[in-house]
Amino acid sequence: MALAEFLADLDALVAEADAAFAAAADDAALEAARIEYLGAKAGRLKDVQKGLGKVDKADKPAAGKRFNEVKQSIEAAFAAAQERRANGAATHQREAFDFTLPGQPVRLGRLHPITQTIAEMKDIMGRLGFTAVEGPEIEDDWHNFEALNIPRSHPARDPLDNFYLATAQLAPGDSPGAKSKSSDAKAAAKPLLLRSQTSTVQIRVMESTPPPVRIISLGRVYRPDTADATHYPMFHQIEGLLVDRGVTMADLKSVLRLFCQSYFAGGDEVHVRFRPSFFPFTEPSVEVDMSWTNAAGEHGWLEMGGAGMVDPNVLRAVGYDPEEVTGFAFGLGVERICMRQHGITDIRALYENDVRFLEQF
Ligand code: DAH
Repeated sequence: MALAEFLADLDALVAEADAAFAAAADDAALEAARIEYLGAKAGRLKDVQKGLGKVDKADKPAAGKRFNEVKQSIEAAFAAAQERRANGAATHQREAFDFTLPGQPVRLGRLHPITQTIAEMKDIMGRLGFTAVEGPEIEDDWHNFEALNIPRSHPARDPLDNFYLATAQLAPGDSPGAKSKSSDAKAAAKPLLLRSQTSTVQIRVMESTPPPVRIISLGRVYRPDTADATHYPMFHQIEGLLVDRGVTMADLKSVLRLFCQSYFAGGDEVHVRFRPSFFPFTEPSVEVDMSWTNAAGEHGWLEMGGAGMVDPNVLRAVGYDPEEVTGFAFGLGVERICMRQHGITDIRALYENDVRFLEQF
């Protein structure tokens, strides 16, 4: 075979291969072109290479050199076409971006577990006919103690057990700017404090509403406890109050049992028990425990808080007639109930605001 003929074949092949790679409309077409020209078994380059053996011996070095150049050129053309396709595909994807598709996964906020518990409690008690009301967190002596039958000498008023505020409520007639006119004015100034219990709201409601009343109040209370697994200087209570003619302890127990059964969805498995206790604002008074059984079949009692029949002194303090109406009241710890529900063992976890904890609810 003449050298010129061999070289002409090579030149024709380069041109055709270039054109074929450039014309490939998609990845499959490009791959087909690669197989046609560069295929190791039956590719056209391979075919032309066969001619190399037939070239005159003297021309072989020149023919081989040119063959290698052509081979590299075709391979480079293929690589270039491949790169164009990759870029083109990317451009194509950008153009085809669908703005109606949902975005990247968005991290949604959630309600704090205590907020969820409170909402659920309001819901359950609402179905039992109790209206949710709120009261202030800064309270006066009358609502936090006096009207609740907590006498001056009672240890519950101890400054070590309460967050008294530096400002006091001035007696009527004192102007805020005036220096204390007399020691009388000072004595008349009543201390303000962060409420230590939600029982304050019972007084506020009864002062402004004639009986019957049927309310709950949920909110923060404050006590100077050192934070540990079961104590925190701020926590939440749910307070309940029902005053009407002929209300008894049996009503109290029924309502608490219905509440616990609904909250823990435990059906007949949930029991409520009363232990005799003392609170100045109820007579008789009880501690309320609720039974629980966990997934492992373990059984126990959870202390939920206090309750009792509203003391006649409290009814009188708000202008109700204890001969006409009776009532029950209860105050339960929201954190305890929430922690039992979710198996949380340390109250501090609720207030560290660690998203890894909060995300689980
Ligand atoms: N206020 C009480 C406390 O903080 C709880 C309580 C007990 C509330 C008895 C009540 C009640 O309404 O009747 O420890």
